[in-house]
Amino acid sequence: MPPSALPGFRDFYPAECAERSHIFQAWREVALRFAFTEYDGPPLESLDLYTKKSGDEIVGQLYAFEDKGGRHVALRPEMTPTLARMVAARANALRKPVRWFSIPQLFRYERQQRGRLREHFQLNLDILGEAGVTADAELLAAALGMMSELGLTKDDVRARVSDRRLLNGLLVLAGVSSDQLPLVYGVVDKLEREPRPVLEEKLAKAGCSDLVVARIFEVLKFTDLDMLRSEFHGVAALRDDFSRLASYFEMLDALGVRDWVVFDLSIVRGLAYYTGIVFELFDARGEFRAIAGGGRYDNLIAQLGGGDIPALGFGMGDVVLGELLRTRKLMPRQADALDYWVAGAEGASDTIVMRVATALRRRKLRVEYPLREQKLSKQIKTAATAGAAKVLIIHDDRTATIRRLADGHEESVGLADLLDGAGDGARDPWVSANAP
Ligand code: HAM
Repeated sequence: MPPSALPGFRDFYPAECAERSHIFQAWREVALRFAFTEYDGPPLESLDLYTKKSGDEIVGQLYAFEDKGGRHVALRPEMTPTLARMVAARANALRKPVRWFSIPQLFRYERQQRGRLREHFQLNLDILGEAGVTADAELLAAALGMMSELGLTKDDVRARVSDRRLLNGLLVLAGVSSDQLPLVYGVVDKLEREPRPVLEEKLAKAGCSDLVVARIFEVLKFTDLDMLRSEFHGVAALRDDFSRLASYFEMLDALGVRDWVVFDLSIVRGLAYYTGIVFELFDARGEFRAIAGGGRYDNLIAQLGGGDIPALGFGMGDVVLGELLRTRKLMPRQADALDYWVAGAEGASDTIVMRVATALRRRKLRVEYPLREQKLSKQIKTAATAGAAKVLIIHDDRTATIRRLADGHEESVGLADLLDGAGDGARDPWVSANAP
């Protein structure tokens, strides 16, 4: 048996690579349209960048080791600490708001399950240096713009949003103390994945009384922001949180994405650094794990010594998104891989085939020819398997026939122009005729 890739790691044969490129292209196009610029960082970082900032769940999944110089290092499990480190290092020099995106490959030693691998590519889109809710709305609109770009609609994808500040306030009102909050967040994060008695037990262990536990579950039942707001109408401490969320939804409407979004207090996000509005994207039928997740993390840059720079962003992985696109038949058929296959008929020399192929390649066309002598009929079969749009059959130094493989249409051509001309752009018949 030939050796295989490690569990949770993928080989990208050309078909899978084409699918990956399709996703990356949509990510890049929409990111650029929303005025984000691309950055990158190293795949290996100092271990303590994650142990201090990411939270226990990710830390437990690190690929960490000691390098030959005795440093404790880890393969990046997420991009946000690297981004925060990079921005903190140049905090004063960067024009604010910083609008950056990146498509890193990330590594987490996850338990094997559907939609979760041990490596994945993750689009990261972040805004740094803007505290206002306009930035939160802009961020979610960009995430949903990517869904549209890939052919998904509001019937396929839901954005579930919440605000950690509001949930904090509600939990404190319910009787949760500030040292119990992180544990309660952990429980809320598991609401859909673990049975209620297990969660109740965890809350009891954290020191929540039966009454507090009952109140927590009561609050989490609200799925309508207006109803929640009228229930807690008189509570002054929550007023700002409610009005911020109301503006957020108004802005999402103006940005054309309100219909994709639902309010859901159970979205808290597993990572430790979030401080404000948070969101996750899911397929609307609830068949898959999260497509994307993110939110506001206003304190992270300061924690890395970069001063007080509010920040927000999201990560969108290629694994669940790819599964969803394949299920909805939204992965494109592979386009023609070649513009021309250059075939020598009997009597054509090897060198004329090469000269013609070179002239076509100088015109930026994708061209292949056989690397060993073959009968013409065999060459035409190979051209079709190679995904060529056309075969250029060379008869001698001067004459050739172009055969379109889709319908067999043939046309005789002379080679003099092709071999002499420099290929002056769109007026060159070899380039313009290339459109099928
Ligand atoms: P995250 O929720 O851990 O957030 O990951 C974001 C997305 O990446 C998930 O919704 C999922 O699509 C994908 N993903 C995560 N882990 C895996 C895995 N093991 N296999 C396949 N896909 C996976 C973060 O990483 C934050 N740093 C995002 C962020 C950026 N927040 C602010 N800026």
